[in-house]
Amino acid sequence: MHLNTDPMRHFGRTSSSATAVHLLTKSQFSKNAPDLSKADLAWAKSTGFSGSKGQTCLVPGDNGKLAKVLFGIGSGNDFGDPMLHAKLARTLPAGKYRLAEGDHREANPLIDQLAWAMGGYSFDRYRDRKHKTPALCGKTNADARRMAEGVFFTRDLINTPASDMGPEALEAAFRQLAKSHAARVRVIKGDNLLKQNFPMVHAVGRASSQAPRVLDMSWGKPSHPKITLVGKGVTFDTGGLNIKPGSSMALMKKDMGGAANVMGLAHMIMDAKLPVRLRVIVGAVENAISGNAFRPGDILQTRKGMTVEIGNTDAEGRLVLGDCLALGDEQKPDLMIDMATLTGAARVAMGPEVSPFYTHDDDFAHALDAASNEIHDPVWRLPLWQPYQSMLGSKVADVNHISIGGFGGSITAALFLSRFVEHAKSWAHFDIYGWVPSEKLWAPVGGEAQAIRALYTMLKARTSR
Ligand code: BES
Ligand code: ZN
Ligand code: ZN
Repeated sequence: MHLNTDPMRHFGRTSSSATAVHLLTKSQFSKNAPDLSKADLAWAKSTGFSGSKGQTCLVPGDNGKLAKVLFGIGSGNDFGDPMLHAKLARTLPAGKYRLAEGDHREANPLIDQLAWAMGGYSFDRYRDRKHKTPALCGKTNADARRMAEGVFFTRDLINTPASDMGPEALEAAFRQLAKSHAARVRVIKGDNLLKQNFPMVHAVGRASSQAPRVLDMSWGKPSHPKITLVGKGVTFDTGGLNIKPGSSMALMKKDMGGAANVMGLAHMIMDAKLPVRLRVIVGAVENAISGNAFRPGDILQTRKGMTVEIGNTDAEGRLVLGDCLALGDEQKPDLMIDMATLTGAARVAMGPEVSPFYTHDDDFAHALDAASNEIHDPVWRLPLWQPYQSMLGSKVADVNHISIGGFGGSITAALFLSRFVEHAKSWAHFDIYGWVPSEKLWAPVGGEAQAIRALYTMLKARTSR
């Protein structure tokens, strides 16, 4: 299994022969960027280079060989612009490069390297890819390396098609992650889920040929602050008996994106040996269709105790998460974070790039906002709007898992989840998309890590105070 595409292939040792890459704003370029000779400038202008966002200009030396690279960063002021050069990692010819310092910009090894690795990523498990990639030379920054590893791991997990990433394979990847950091793993699966009181995980996953399961990892000193990560690991979402139309089902291999993201984040935390007691819980199920599938109108028992009326079998993620959150909550963690590709509504509200999150904890929200800006990983807080709790009313059970009318779909899903969290000192829920639908400078089309660079940055700052 070739999970964890290695980001180190995009890095090289410090080298005096590395080609300089100049990152230039439009205005820097128009003011005759000081490092450029007249001939360089003439070349750049005559090839149409202006410094606009994402533009690349290969500049030859006297011998006709590549001498330097100009890369346009537009105004250089927008969110994430310091990551723009990421694109170079998949467009430059193979060779050694360094980012030029000087009049134009300050070096930031963390961002420079992380962006380069993220942009260079490609998912090659199912094809031969022998060509070499351009390498960014210099002393490797440890956080850039471990964040890139986490991001690559997450992307690989999401990109792997459901035929090779069912509940069993997700469990294998979970065990592999645990093993590489000497973490302990417990797995509860199949009918054991009923015996050990995970009725909703079982109900959602029982129609699949691969048994549903709860994956549970623990790592770190028990005396450290308890941080629990919970991920939606729906390895494929057909919608169940409320079957999705083809166009909506096409991308549903990514419905384990929450699990993939918390696993990528767990890698970063454990690799950095942050002083926390980490727990990772993943509900790994396939929302399949069979004679024993759960149905609209069914009433499910829950780990937490209340009963849930099923309004639509396509709203399966919140059921799986409900039992997993209840499990995490029993340990009274200091902080519980869940991530899930939970609703289409979140996408309608935020588009594919910005991850909405929900929390009652203002300090968490502010700290995350700061980290998000620092590491260029966009998140945005949405409200746990209590009056909408009434939309989850049911006439036959304690609660309905969907709202009538579908208003505020991401909010009502978050409110449903909040009912399973009682003892955690702080809780945050991320309704992520987990996918890049059209190529970005820092990512090819495919699975994406979202919010975990910001979360890692925040947790590292908090725990090293
Ligand atoms: N996995 C989907 C949500 C989803 C769809 C995320 C597309 C990202 C892109 C989830 O299980 C789902 O189908 N949710 C339904 C809920 C509805 C039936 C209340 C939705 O959002 O339409
Ligand atoms: Zn669904
Ligand atoms: Zn789903």
